[in-house]
This record gives sequence, structure tokens and C-alpha cells, in this order.
Amino acid sequence: MDIKITKTQNPKPKPAWENAGFCKYYSDHMFIMDGNKTKGWYDARIVPYGPLQMDPASLVFHYAQESFEGMKAFYGVDGKIRLFRPDANMKRMNITHKRMSIMEFDGDFVLKALDELIKIEKDWVPPVDEMAMYIRPFCIGNGTHLGVKSSDDFIYCIILSPVGAYYPEGMAPTKIYIEDKYVRSVEGGTGAYKAGANYAGTLQPGEEVLAKGFSQICWLDAKERKYIEEVGTSNIVFVIDGKVVTPTLKTGTILPGITRDTTLQLAREWGYDVEERPVSVEEVFKAADEGKLNEAFATGTAAVISPVGLIHYKGKEAIINDQKTGPLSQRIYDEVTDLQYGRKEDTRGWIHIVE
Ligand SMILES: Cc1ncc(COP(=O)(O)O)c(C=O)c1O
Repeated sequence: MDIKITKTQNPKPKPAWENAGFCKYYSDHMFIMDGNKTKGWYDARIVPYGPLQMDPASLVFHYAQESFEGMKAFYGVDGKIRLFRPDANMKRMNITHKRMSIMEFDGDFVLKALDELIKIEKDWVPPVDEMAMYIRPFCIGNGTHLGVKSSDDFIYCIILSPVGAYYPEGMAPTKIYIEDKYVRSVEGGTGAYKAGANYAGTLQPGEEVLAKGFSQICWLDAKERKYIEEVGTSNIVFVIDGKVVTPTLKTGTILPGITRDTTLQLAREWGYDVEERPVSVEEVFKAADEGKLNEAFATGTAAVISPVGLIHYKGKEAIINDQKTGPLSQRIYDEVTDLQYGRKEDTRGWIHIVE
């Protein structure tokens, strides 16, 4: 399929990079293609960034048939623009599509379209260390019907936004609140997929946690309220007595984070014992009491690594690593960002060069 390109006649002024914030500004162009369950994907195009015209009866407005991804483009020290493991995002998005009854797409074609879009928008990629251009692919069911059914028609879209460091003050360890009232996901549900529908229900609990003075919400399993699942929009990793321990994906209740996978691959490569298994709150607090909870950190595309300095559960608190960034957290952050900004050669096939 060809990609038709229509350039804007009114390019927007770019923000001063230090004021870019996180997704405050959007670039000049976006990628769109339409899909129909009978016809397939068609009319791929790059057009000026602007509103989508949608029928109010579009299924996405009523039954949340939607998927999305989050990726970043980085300006390397050699002037080349890099993506980090974009094939993994495309694969995960198609897995989401299957579960949400959305048409699957050709990931290689969308990556080609993304390359084209980034080349047009290269001046929107901040040429500044720790900054990047956030990439948001998403897909919505825009067939019209008021009655629960799967859409026959879809819009696939990619928009871009320059972003600063997720934590402008650096990797300051966060305080997390282990949620004992609300749950995010159940076995057999959709928690393992990147679907907008999973996020709406987390907003109010997240606000309650922020109001209590914590930086992030940590979810427990819905069945026993015993096992740690994930933290806000990140996965969680513990270093307990020198071992890297993280909640298993086998329950199908947490998002299989790409940064989580990167972290586990690096930790194994560096000789750590890595355990993917149920991790109970009890085990974590016991390890903290015994001085064996060496580190805890959240992993995700937005910040790569976010160290956890304190955990709270039903009035009990544990301080982790003196509320300082631990050695494994720092090493992973450095390795991943060195690859993303081209300071280190990619030997693992993780980097995709746009140009
Ligand atoms: C619920 C949830 N868990 C985990 C992650 C981390 O995933 P990744 O490392 O692929 O960004 C995200 C963010 O994408 C998320 O939304």
C-alpha cells in the first residue's frame, strides 16, 4: 500500500525544548489509515495534525473498542534518530487487537509509515539528552451502532509529541501505595492488553492515592489481594537478597512491558538470578524487615526506570535502599539510555535507525 503525503501549509512554532514538558505539544503531521473488516486496511496517509471527524454513534465512544501503544524516538549523539525495540510494540499491539476484536495490521508496514512520518517530523525530535519524541499509535472502532457489537470499521492513527525527561528532577525514588480496596485486572480479563478500556477504571483510585501523598498506586491480584501485580503504568521489579524478582506474566493480569523484558534480559546477561513468579506483599515486607530488600523499581517506556524508595500497605511502611537509586536500577537506566542515544553500540538488535 502506498502512503499518500499531504504537508501542512501552516507549520506550528516549536516550543523551547526546556518547556516541552510531557505531551504538551503535538507535531505538525500524523499518520492515518482506515480499515474495514471486509476490505482490509486502505487509504494510508500522512496528513496535517488535526481533529478526527467522528460520528457520535461511533462504537469507540460507547463500548471503548480501542488499542494503543507508547514508544519514543531519540536523537543520537551521531545525529541519527533511533527507535528502541519498535517491533515489540507492533507485536504487542496486534495481540491487543486480537483480544479487543480489532482488525490486525501489518506491523512492518506501520513501522515503514512511522519512519516516513518521523522523517517529515525530524525537527520535532528534541536534539537534547534525556528528551525524546513520544510516539502514540492507536486504533479505534469507528463503525456506528448503539448496541454492543464489534466495529466493522477502524481508524489507525499515529501522533507524535516532543517530551522532556519524565522526572525533570532526575530519578528521585517514589513512594508507592499498595491498593487494598480497588483492583485493576482479573484473570481472564483484559489487564494484559494495552487497551484504553483498562485505564479509565484506574483513574479514581489513582487520584485517591495521590491525595494521600503517594506518587503511584501499586495493584494487587483481584482474587486473593495478596500478590503484587504492577505500579501505575509500569511493571515492578524487586531485588531481594541479590535476586531479581518480578511478578509473573502467567496470570494474564499485567501488561507484558517491553522495558520489563529488556530489564530481565539485561539482568540475566549480567549474571543475576531472575525469578518471574508470584510476589506477595508479605514476602516483600519480610525481606524489608530482614534487610534483604535491596532495591525496588518500576519499569516503563516513559521513564525507563523509576526507583521505589518507600512502600505502604495498610498503614505499614518500608523504606527501600535508604530512598536512594540502587546499583541495578542505575545500571539498567544507563545501559538502555546509552543505546537509545547512540552512546553505545547495539549488539542485541534492539535499535532501529530511522535515518
Ligand atoms: C499498565 C502498564 N504496565 C506496564 C507498562 C510498561 O510497559 P512498557 O515497558 O512497554 O512501556 C505500561 C506502559 O506502557 C502500562 O501502561
